[in-house]
Amino acid sequence: MISRETIEQVLLRNDAETVIGSYVTLRRAGSNLKGLCPFHSEKTPSFTVYPADNSFYCFGCGVGGNVITFIQKKENLDYRDAIEFLADRAGITIVREERGVGYEQKPRFERSRMFEMNRDAAIYFSQRLFDNTPEARAALEYFTVKRGLSLGFIKHFGLGFAPNSFDMFSDYMRKKGYSYEELVAGFLCGKSEHGTYYDAFRNRVMFPIIDVSGNVIAFGGRVMDDSKPKYKNSSDTPVFKKSRNLFALNFARHACKESLILCEGYMDVITMHSAGFTNAVATLGTAITPEQARMISRYTKKVILSYDADEAGQKAAQRAITLLNEVDVEVAILRIPGAKDPDEYIKANGRDKFAELLKNTKTRFEHNSETILAKYDLELPQDKIKALHELEKLISETYSSAERDIYIRIIAKKLDVDPKSVKLDVDGIISKNMKARKKEESNKFKQNAIGYSDKVNPDFMKAPAAAKNEETVIGLLYIFPEHRKHVFESDILTEDDFVTELNRRFFKYFKEQYQNGGDDLSCIGEAFTADEFGRLVKMKLKRMELTDNGTAVLEEAISSLKKSVSKKTNQKTNTFEGLYAVLRDKRKTET
Ligand code: UTP
Ligand code: MN
Repeated sequence: MISRETIEQVLLRNDAETVIGSYVTLRRAGSNLKGLCPFHSEKTPSFTVYPADNSFYCFGCGVGGNVITFIQKKENLDYRDAIEFLADRAGITIVREERGVGYEQKPRFERSRMFEMNRDAAIYFSQRLFDNTPEARAALEYFTVKRGLSLGFIKHFGLGFAPNSFDMFSDYMRKKGYSYEELVAGFLCGKSEHGTYYDAFRNRVMFPIIDVSGNVIAFGGRVMDDSKPKYKNSSDTPVFKKSRNLFALNFARHACKESLILCEGYMDVITMHSAGFTNAVATLGTAITPEQARMISRYTKKVILSYDADEAGQKAAQRAITLLNEVDVEVAILRIPGAKDPDEYIKANGRDKFAELLKNTKTRFEHNSETILAKYDLELPQDKIKALHELEKLISETYSSAERDIYIRIIAKKLDVDPKSVKLDVDGIISKNMKARKKEESNKFKQNAIGYSDKVNPDFMKAPAAAKNEETVIGLLYIFPEHRKHVFESDILTEDDFVTELNRRFFKYFKEQYQNGGDDLSCIGEAFTADEFGRLVKMKLKRMELTDNGTAVLEEAISSLKKSVSKKTNQKTNTFEGLYAVLRDKRKTET
């Protein structure tokens, strides 16, 4: 178990606004904050953060809890690991012995130690590039001759070479004091089925990945021929998440106020920087993530996208456009004629030609509409109609109506049709989409309201009236310590009065905490799942709307609960669920 003090520290030092705000773009709404829910897809924000008590709740999908719950869900971690994640973030050290029985014993690693280890590894790799061996000379030649890099830039980027050996690197690192366990955790070594260890990077030229604070956090290693896989990259480690870092942002962040060039490859970035375009970064072998988009929005207002022209590249570009628009970053699209990527283009045509390309980027609309127009033969009426429909759909995705008007005029002129009819069509698509969205949201709302899809409290529908009273009681007990004192010292309500298992468990937990003298409910996550905690937050929110502490409401709910056995017998028995409830309650009174 992690001590209460530690959990309290973790909660204190990780306020919901900052932690959740690093995943979700939050906007102030009164004393709370709202944003688009990261757990379900929505167009209007129903995800709310309550800084007052560090909780969150989504009115669309019912997810809620505190920062620990949020991290559990978002990072897919168990309760314990989520706490450690947040402790790490706040620089709180959790001693290893705290992990109690029943937990898998995982070794923990200090961030600073991992950084040191990666730095030592980077120094090792970069030194190997200058060894006086045939393989080292070949590696250096790969960078200088084949890729045209100067020694200056090789050093600037800390490029290196991992020799073709299974143990040279780990022997070196172990002499420096690092254990195999640490090397494996940092993805620098692998462990075979037989329990032997081997160097993870062999016979590859090495690209260190450096975070904005200048720490070496990971490596990419490239083969020097056509063998596969071309690149081998560090997997996520305790100090590295692919989804949250960008290659060369440590350099580009000083040069990207005007615009940032986002591309796909390490070599593209290095070549661009050496040609003077020091505002270039790359994702780390994955499509851009919402986290990266948000990170970018903190550094620049405009991104120039330079993705491969192939289908995969174009799909990735569309995703990048959407994510960057969501965080209010302007997107321009760079087209590279006659070359696969910026690296190839600069090599073939020089930096000045590339600078010209950068001046002639396309807007999202220009890029997409040109792609659509290129697909069709506008001389053929059928093709023209198809193109028109696709273009109208494209225009309907623009939020600003003034902007839409501009596009409508361009398209009408291009296809030689009346702009008025194009506008009618576009407005039609928009209102159709809006209706569909409203319907979807109201359906979801209804489902939530009747608890139809109640996976968290499956007993709810068996006795909805009683379950609602339970929620009132639990919600009020959760909010007000004076109610806990009153109820737990008087026995006016016992766990046997509960119909649903979930609420009974909440009741028992609250009571235990109270009786153990630690009347503090900040550690609910130790006994309940993230979804259950979410439900508790919902129960609380509803009762927070009361103008007083709800004593009368509580008493009413308790007495209804007490009476609910006789009440439930009168409930509708014409549904299977209703019948089930009655039978079950009968059985309960009989025994
Ligand atoms: P590319 O295949 O476009 O390679 O992959 P590149 O960057 O142009 O490399 P060169 O010019 O052939 O040296 C783009 C990016 O995708 C990731 C790497 O981050 C690479 O820079 N990638 C690619 C991998 O992670 N693994 C692979 O096997 C291939
Ligand atoms: Mn390339």
